[in-house]
This record gives sequence, structure tokens and C-alpha cells, in this order.
Amino acid sequence: MIFKQLFEPISSTYTYLLGCEETGQAILIDPVINAIDRDLRVLDDLGLRLERTLDTHIHADHITAARELKTRVGSKIAAPALDRLPCVDLPIEENRPMQVGSLSLTGLHTPGHTDGHFAYLFRDRVFTGDALLIEGCGRTDFQNGDSEALYRSVTEKLFPLPDETLVYPAHDYTGRHVSSIAQEKARNPRLGAGKQLEEFKQIMAGLKLPYPKFIDYAVPGNRQCGVCPSDLPEELQQYCGVMAASPQG
Ligand SMILES: [Fe+2]
Repeated sequence: MIFKQLFEPISSTYTYLLGCEETGQAILIDPVINAIDRDLRVLDDLGLRLERTLDTHIHADHITAARELKTRVGSKIAAPALDRLPCVDLPIEENRPMQVGSLSLTGLHTPGHTDGHFAYLFRDRVFTGDALLIEGCGRTDFQNGDSEALYRSVTEKLFPLPDETLVYPAHDYTGRHVSSIAQEKARNPRLGAGKQLEEFKQIMAGLKLPYPKFIDYAVPGNRQCGVCPSDLPEELQQYCGVMAASPQG
């Protein structure tokens, strides 16, 4: 199995590349539109063919590269069935494994950040999207967010996974790359150490986060599997531009 964690610095998004060594097929989880050239270069360097893109949810902070990758290299678009996006080729349902070559991923419906949000279990690791971040979690105040639903998703679906399961989140804002279920159960300041539902709801209600600056463009664009709007204000054009070469890329 080939595995790479790729970072997009404008939205601090992690994209995950999974490659099957027997068939040369690959999956990209949560690819970002402005990092598309980088991702295609990495696939090329590894001798892999992109078979599928897979999104964890309808993102509000970046535009998915799913549609553009389909156009460029013919990959199929997989995403949670619950979001009912007409542009999706392979709707993902809970506990129905998705197979690409020797790679098999199982979706877990983990609502709360968004109502259709999925995490993906793959062998010894779980791609947690924005449901569970390293010592954090996604916000719950937009896109049908619901702190009670998120608490249940994390404590009833993710925390029961084996302690040693590696946690690969959709974002990290301080340079951390990976965690584990044991570590998050012990150390997550919002959800770990036996935090109760009421306490979590209070924490989330008290965050007072600013309005996401790209959400009004990202959500409609992502509901079309990744369309950059033509009327982007100057200061937001970097979200649809070509990413500068990065040391991690
Ligand atoms: Fe998100």
C-alpha cells in the first residue's frame, strides 16, 4: 500500500493519497482544487493512476478538486450518499465498503460538523474529516451543524475504534500530522477525558468563531463537486489559483 499525506496551506487541508501497489490505482481523499497540479504530479511520480476521489463532506473552507480531476484524468467522484449530490458517481453508504484494487475503505456516518459527514476507516487508520481533529473538532455552527450529533459521532463511532487506530484529520492548523484514538480519548480538550455531552455543548456554543470567509462560495461550488465561481473577489482568488510549490508537497 502506498500512502501519502499532502498539505494545502491556504485552508490548512490534508489530502490523503492511497495507492494500490498491485494495480497502480489510487484514491485521493479530500483533494483541494488549487493543489490539483501538485496532486497529479505526485501521482505521476509514484506511477499511479487516479481511479477515485472521495470527500468526507461538503467543505466550507476550500473547493474540492473532484470535478476537475474527473475532467482531467477521468477519476470517479465518490462522496456521502446522504448529501444527494447529482454530480456524484459513487454515493457512499455507511458500512458498505468501497473497493479500489486492493484498497478497501468503510464509511462511518459521523454527523455534527455537517449532517452528511462521513469518516473513512482504512486498515489501521481512520480519516476523520472534520468530525475529529487532533485535540479539536470541526465547528458545529453552520451547514446543519449540531454539537449533540457531533458528540455522539465521536464518542459512539470513533472512540470505540481500537486504541491504536491512527487518526488522520482533514485539517491541522499547527503542523501536527497524525494522532490516535487512544491519544484523542485521553487528551482531546473538547471531547476526551470523559467529557460529558452538556460540557461539550457549552464549549462549542462558547467558541464565538468568526464567519468563515470562503463559505458562501465554497458550499455552492462543492455542491457541484467542485466548481470555482467566476465572481470571486480579489482577496479570495487564491482559493482557486495554482498553489505555489511547498516543501511538503
Ligand atoms: Fe469542513
